[in-house]
Amino acid sequence: MANETKSSHAAANAKMEKIVSLCKRRGFIFQSSEIYGGLNGAWDYGPVGVELKRNIKDYWWRRIVQLRDDVVGMDGSILMNRAVWKASGHEVTFHDPMVDCKVCKRRFRADQLETCECGKDPKKTPLTCGSELTAPRNFNLMFKTYVGPTEDDTSVAYLRPETAQAMFVQFKNVLEVARKKLPFGIAQIGKAFRNEINPRNFTFRSREFEQMELEFFVPPDQGLKWLEYWKDERLRWYEEIGIPRSKIHVLDVPADKRAHYSKGTYDLEYEFPFGVQELEGVAYRTDFDLKQHQEASGKPLEYFDEETRTKFIPHVVEPSAGVDRTLLAVLCEAFAEEEVKDDNGKTEVRTVLRFHPRVAPIKCGVFPLLKNKPELVAKAREVRDLLRPLMNVFYDEAGAIGRRYRRQDEVGTPYGVTIDFDTLGEKGPELKDTVTLRERDSMKQERIPIKDLHGWLLQRIN
Ligand code: GLY
Repeated sequence: MANETKSSHAAANAKMEKIVSLCKRRGFIFQSSEIYGGLNGAWDYGPVGVELKRNIKDYWWRRIVQLRDDVVGMDGSILMNRAVWKASGHEVTFHDPMVDCKVCKRRFRADQLETCECGKDPKKTPLTCGSELTAPRNFNLMFKTYVGPTEDDTSVAYLRPETAQAMFVQFKNVLEVARKKLPFGIAQIGKAFRNEINPRNFTFRSREFEQMELEFFVPPDQGLKWLEYWKDERLRWYEEIGIPRSKIHVLDVPADKRAHYSKGTYDLEYEFPFGVQELEGVAYRTDFDLKQHQEASGKPLEYFDEETRTKFIPHVVEPSAGVDRTLLAVLCEAFAEEEVKDDNGKTEVRTVLRFHPRVAPIKCGVFPLLKNKPELVAKAREVRDLLRPLMNVFYDEAGAIGRRYRRQDEVGTPYGVTIDFDTLGEKGPELKDTVTLRERDSMKQERIPIKDLHGWLLQRIN
């Protein structure tokens, strides 16, 4: 049993290493400031990574804002008045417990010691290396900075640790302009920052990350009902971007483990290779935040219900998802290696990212069979220009066609079209203006008229 556990850990580590290496090799994710040795907990998205990220965010926005009547969007600033973080409770309570090792001088999260590496012997944990640790102390996770030319207590500001607060403090403004009745929500996508004690697991726990958050305002007696609704709705969304329901665990977070504002939280967790970890929290924040801000600012943040002629502070249900975590889950889910035969019948390993077409960074590769035949190249460029206004396409004329397919498999492009001599009508009129369409997962090829191509692709991508 112990051996089985060890070998499954080794396989999971090996899978993660392959994913990290593919991400760099193909331009999904690079270490931030890499030429200077990097910066712990910060990452850069490369040419295909940024497309994947945009597709995830766009699909969230589409489902949460544009396809609904009861949610509107906003885009708040990262820097906010310090009073926001005093009222929200973050200045006092937003911390993790940390301990210092007296021998290797490293700092660890006190509640994660069993999964941390000792600074002297990485095979051991701070619990097993025999060193002495300090007593746990609280460490505030907010990045502190100063606004303006003076660096004193009056100019302190924080990089926001969640996007949520902008939606609470703008609640009244948005309500007025949106002319909505409860229940209604405000959604936002943006960067957030947390000075994590131990960033780790590639992009999973980073110090700079992006959130997709919805604050859904409801009458006080409807909070628990909407908590269930949003949990189910969010599970559906993950399925729609290619993460099967069976890989997501729903944790009903016990009261002593919830954030200070929550009266009920579901963590939606994904089976990453490094363990089952949180993708998103769906929290019932009650009226905590609006009440705090009303009290601290002295400005009314109540809602007047015209039907019941009552005034109250709305309660809030918040689905809060991590963009980077979702992207990492999508990558882990899509990653596959399989044995296939090459053009000469020899067995080789094909690496493929089986992204759902909806989030795939490139939807279709366009290839002229040969690059030294001007008629093929001209026709292929024509097909590229036909598709380009409708989807992200990648035109590639370099190298053997088999290698071009493999390159697109590695970035998860679901479809490839090849323009060959049949397309030009050289082998007879019946195949003129048709192309070979190759499907990434099955590698099956079919012949399709150019005039049907965009309809065929759009149907599968959307
Ligand atoms: N807004 C919830 C969170 O950032 O965890």
